[in-house]
Amino acid sequence: MDGTRFPDRPADLVLLGPPGAGKGTQARILQDRFGLVQLSTGDLLREAVAAGTPAGLAAREVMASGGLVSDEIVVAILSDRLATSDTAAGAIFDGFPRTAVQARALDALLAERGRGIVAAISLEVDDAAMVARITGRSTCAGCGEGYHDDFKRPASPGVCDRCGGTAFTRRADDAAETVAARLSAYHAQTAPLIDHYAGQGLLSRIDAMAPIDEVAAAMAAVVETALA
Ligand code: AP5
Repeated sequence: MDGTRFPDRPADLVLLGPPGAGKGTQARILQDRFGLVQLSTGDLLREAVAAGTPAGLAAREVMASGGLVSDEIVVAILSDRLATSDTAAGAIFDGFPRTAVQARALDALLAERGRGIVAAISLEVDDAAMVARITGRSTCAGCGEGYHDDFKRPASPGVCDRCGGTAFTRRADDAAETVAARLSAYHAQTAPLIDHYAGQGLLSRIDAMAPIDEVAAAMAAVVETALA
């Protein structure tokens, strides 16, 4: 893609942030800009649920309740995906790790490949804004591009900017009551990873209440610095 700046060596990034912080939105922008592959464990789990695999069957009810799927299932799914060749130049880990166990597993999986995390970015948002962001979200059924009823509409109403598709979906776990459980899981189990990555000197905090393009610019600056 024009304007893509491919890193000279494998670059692995971790995106942290509560539900609706913009991890998926920003991961797709970084993917285009730096030629890295977005690895969303939420997307991988939803694919497993749709395919009816044993992991998907085990994950379905947990995801519907807003809780975290077991480390064992998530690490296995992530490990399988990381074994595919398109991730060799580096990955953007979107929604992974979410627990201390997952953080250690990610370090080990990357070390096996002679790689390591170059930056962890925490998208910082107010909990109060999250329900509006999540309940207004839709996704192109064709290419997965994300939209929002108020904050990110397609240029041509009802037509995806990226692929021209006209079918859009809304996630089953985006109901307001489930969002509260997802936020609570984030604060209890995932937010401590912010200190974990700060302790390793890898953390950057970004104000994700700003408009999407401003957040993207701040994130690109962090990645450029990490790759320098
Ligand atoms: P997952 O799919 O990872 O969901 P999440 O973390 O809850 O995050 P979201 O996808 O809801 O939000 P996002 O931060 O990507 O925001 P987005 O860019 O879409 O996980 C789902 C479930 O799977 C979990 O609850 C759990 O059960 C399970 N799971 C997944 N990973 C797991 C793991 N590692 N371990 C255990 N369980 C796991 O943006 C949201 C909306 O806001 C969009 O409409 C967007 O257009 C809009 N928006 C984005 N940025 C802005 C902005 N700056 N201003 C205004 N609007 C914006």
